[in-house]
Amino acid sequence: MTDPIIQIQNLKKTFGAHEVLSDINFAVAAGEVVSIIGRSGSGKSTLLRNLNLLETPTDGDILFHGASILARDFDLPQYRAKVGMVFQSFNLFNNLTVLQNVMTPQQTVLHRDAAQAKAHALDLLQQVGMAPYVNAKPAQLSGGQKQRVAIARAVAMDPEVLLFDEPTSALDPEMVDDVLNAMQQLATTGLTMIVVTHEMAFARDVSDRVVFMDQGVIAESGTPEQLFDHPQELRTQEFLKRYLNRA
Ligand SMILES: Nc1ncnc2c1ncn2[C@@H]1O[C@H](COP(=O)(O)OP(=O)(O)O)[C@@H](O)[C@H]1O
Ligand SMILES: [Mg+2]
Repeated sequence: MTDPIIQIQNLKKTFGAHEVLSDINFAVAAGEVVSIIGRSGSGKSTLLRNLNLLETPTDGDILFHGASILARDFDLPQYRAKVGMVFQSFNLFNNLTVLQNVMTPQQTVLHRDAAQAKAHALDLLQQVGMAPYVNAKPAQLSGGQKQRVAIARAVAMDPEVLLFDEPTSALDPEMVDDVLNAMQQLATTGLTMIVVTHEMAFARDVSDRVVFMDQGVIAESGTPEQLFDHPQELRTQEFLKRYLNRA
């Protein structure tokens, strides 16, 4: 693999006696789009939350460009600016307008001046089709519109990696495609993306690699063709059978 941007080594996470992640190992190359699939409770969100240190790993290590993010002298604020996250529940600032939502983090974290932050915000809001709503407040938007603003806000920080935790799971079905299209467009820009999703068509068509998690381990991973057309593990086959039948 050329230039791994993130390496997860023997990662383990327990909550009390409950081992939620057991010995997770994988590396993500710069520019790669990785989808993580698996049933509810398999540890997908916990993995993402460990990756950006919303949770602290119990054991193992996570390297960013070869440096441990758990090291005492690691520059965490800088890392958080480089590794963004898009949540299922949007997490917008409800008292700010769409434009302010996308401008403010650039100003407070990256110290961009207002003109610079505004130009960048308008450009990205245009890209996700939200330019007509710059003065709206989140409460006036649909879920799909809110999520596109949240994506623009995350991208405005010029991250190297974006983590997505089921970005379309809270949306009405008719909103899902606009968000997936925005993500698909982002995937063509060379951004490294790690996407937890139940959208199997997205996982198949947009990802370079698909990871199937089951009970806190990576049960199987491979190209979309390998995983969807030739799954090797029984539990992958069973998950896909149940999932694809339901869809
Ligand atoms: N903060 C926490 N405290 C205790 N248990 C947790 C916590 N976060 C997650 N878990 C447990 O870890 C398991 C995996 O959860 P999660 O990572 O959210 O799975 P997924 O995202 O795949 O649905 C679940 O059993 C969940 O209850
Ligand atoms: Mg989850």
